[in-house]
Amino acid sequence: MGFDTLIVGGTVVSSSGLRRADVGVRGERIAAVGTGLERRAGSAARVIDASGKYVLPGVIDVHVHLDMPFCGTVSSDDYDSGTRAAARGGVTTVIDFAIPSGRESLNDALDAWSAKAAGKACIDYAFHVCLTDPRRHPAQIPGVVKRGVPTVKAFMIYASQGWESDDGTLYEALQITRRAGGMLLVHAESARVLDRLIEQFHTPAMMRRYGARLHAMSRPNFVEAEAVARAIRWAEVTGGRLYIVHMSTGEGADLVRDARRRGVRVAAETCAQYLVLDDSVFSQPDGHLYATCPQLKKPADQRRLWQGLRGGEISVVSTDTCTFTRRQKAAWKGDWTKIPMGMPGLETLLPAVYTYGVRGRRLTLPQMVACLCENPARIMGLYPRKGVIARGADADLVIIDPRRTTLVDWRKMETNADWNPFQGRRLAGFAEKTFCRGRMIVDGGRFVGENGWGRFVPRRLAKNL
Ligand code: URP
Ligand code: ZN
Ligand code: ZN
Repeated sequence: MGFDTLIVGGTVVSSSGLRRADVGVRGERIAAVGTGLERRAGSAARVIDASGKYVLPGVIDVHVHLDMPFCGTVSSDDYDSGTRAAARGGVTTVIDFAIPSGRESLNDALDAWSAKAAGKACIDYAFHVCLTDPRRHPAQIPGVVKRGVPTVKAFMIYASQGWESDDGTLYEALQITRRAGGMLLVHAESARVLDRLIEQFHTPAMMRRYGARLHAMSRPNFVEAEAVARAIRWAEVTGGRLYIVHMSTGEGADLVRDARRRGVRVAAETCAQYLVLDDSVFSQPDGHLYATCPQLKKPADQRRLWQGLRGGEISVVSTDTCTFTRRQKAAWKGDWTKIPMGMPGLETLLPAVYTYGVRGRRLTLPQMVACLCENPARIMGLYPRKGVIARGADADLVIIDPRRTTLVDWRKMETNADWNPFQGRRLAGFAEKTFCRGRMIVDGGRFVGENGWGRFVPRRLAKNL
């Protein structure tokens, strides 16, 4: 039997190494991986020469917010622009956060987010669901786990959004997710101390003097570290599985390392922006654009986060994509507490990690594939269907040319953002070709996919992780 697509002569990368191999795709799945498949090229409908290039599993971004109401507006990348941007960056699956509003149940939120994605998504997608009602939502967790959504997020801040969970909710959610085969994801920042710090800095004189720098000044590292320590404590005493999202501090990495050594079931992700950017951006004239939550930290944190990826205490790099345009960000009018928080990231995740990680000699290629593809798939219950190049897996593939660099310019990107945190930087590692379940969705660096190709992927967590 022939192949629909045969990728020949490339270097296939996995978390355990590199090898010269051809990849044969039949329908939506990988049908064969090995040398000498090109002898069967005559029977392939399409043959792609990947000589001199890397063939990677499709990237899985486990942390995105598409079309999300937040900070008085709605994030401006939706399932159309967001997944087109993702494809150009070699991302073939996203996991978004369904957030109940008002009296909605967890199932209502999942229905609402499914409707946002349906007919629009160009790549595959899955959901986490967020606990926003401490009385009603914990009991609903087993139901959503059965629906293929085993990961539940609690926010330790955001009382003003109506999203904040207290320690009791975290504790109970860890107990329930443990019994139901789920995992608790936590946004770890110390709410009451953060409230005080914001109050202390929130004066007209301070705002005139420091502007957007107050975003960083009001969130010292201990705001994250204290909350990470507390969440770990609840995981330790309940035996529940915990995943710290968008971890930004060196202290966080130390805490997760120590907890894992004690046998606590905790994993952590960081985001590309925390690895590449630091809080000096807030001194720029447009520094407010970079406001995200948690905020960018110091170069010493960056170094510790890269080290954490090498050491294994940080397992995943995601984006926390939450795009706001210049116009949306302008709502701050000099008051940092009013900046819609978040930035675009899907299109630049792989290029940023490849350029600053692999080319910058901070990560090896297999380590990069571990933290962008295989670990996200394993931890989030998508493995072995996704995250690896192996027979039977979904044919989610990215081809990158290690010699080619691209100047980042928001005007030439698929995201709806009219600015970019990496604007003007030359990055390598943009997808030359991307395949999602066998369908080519990027060719020659251009998006050629279609709305509606993306499908919801139900997930189930492996028992022993
Ligand atoms: O600033 C951010 N990251 N916005 C998205 C919400 C969150 O906390 O992840
Ligand atoms: Zn968060
Ligand atoms: Zn987020």
